[in-house]
Amino acid sequence: MHAFGIATVLESRHPSFRPGDTVSGLFGVTDHVNVRGDGLTLVDLSVASAPTWLGALGLTGITAWFGLFDVAKVKPGDTVLISGAAGAVGSVAGQLAKAHGCHVIGIAGGQQKARWLTDELGFDAAIDYKNGDIYEQVRTAAGQGVDCFFDNVGGDSLNAALAVLGKGARVVISGAISTYNSTDPIVGPSNYLSLLRNRASMAGFLVLDYKDRFPEAVEGLTAVMRQGRLVSHEHVVAGGVDRFAEALHMLFKGLNTGKLVLEM
Ligand SMILES: NC(=O)c1ccc[n+]([C@@H]2O[C@H](COP(=O)([O-])OP(=O)(O)OC[C@H]3O[C@@H](n4cnc5c(N)ncnc54)[C@H](OP(=O)(O)O)[C@@H]3O)[C@@H](O)[C@H]2O)c1
Repeated sequence: MHAFGIATVLESRHPSFRPGDTVSGLFGVTDHVNVRGDGLTLVDLSVASAPTWLGALGLTGITAWFGLFDVAKVKPGDTVLISGAAGAVGSVAGQLAKAHGCHVIGIAGGQQKARWLTDELGFDAAIDYKNGDIYEQVRTAAGQGVDCFFDNVGGDSLNAALAVLGKGARVVISGAISTYNSTDPIVGPSNYLSLLRNRASMAGFLVLDYKDRFPEAVEGLTAVMRQGRLVSHEHVVAGGVDRFAEALHMLFKGLNTGKLVLEM
């Protein structure tokens, strides 16, 4: 099972790494691993903790960064709507957009998550899609229309967001978690002609395509964090490999807030 992790080097024959170093990489779900050093990155724990290097300063934060600034090209004053907003990528994307001068609306499951977005993370508004009609709530919150929809969820969230696009809006497909376990064929969003009416665009992206530019994102994310405008929230599950399946299911049951991390 693929998994991104943070590890301590026990032995090394690679010139860049010594025993005791902390590194990040694609290690899999395991507590010990023998890997080639070339794909690893040194991690500085004096800058942030290991879970944060997996969260806001890891692939999660980097996904939010390039999705917002490279794909959606958000600018100050934009209204940005985010689904899966209390999750790992969504919570970082919302804070980055806010720090960039955008008006930010989050969609999340449950009152507690919605309150966390506005009260703790500084979102301008939050929608609890589990409480009331998502279409109506999105329409009320969107005002004159959204300039960017950052989608982590797909399904109804995507369809509702398409209905409230402003002129020239950008829809960024980061993911579609509501469809990942579907055993039925996935039906496309019926509101897609809103893209035509609003001269809008919809684009997907994969963070790994930005590999060569990761340092640029990490530098930007670290700077926003130093300004106190980016809080990395990790939901750490202890118990190691034995609890992996349980932890994975938490993502699909909405039991995590922020980045879900399994401690080995
Ligand atoms: N494009 C890329 O390169 C890239 C990179 C990393 C991640 N991603 C994608 O980004 C998305 C978010 O990933 P993440 O790691 O940040 O996960 P996450 O949002 O922390 O975790 C999952 C959250 O999704 C929501 N969810 C789960 N099942 C749902 C359903 N059936 N309907 C609606 N919401 C549901 C739950 O939040 P609620 O309780 O609020 O419903 C849950 O807490 C995923 O789609 C992932 O595949 C993309």
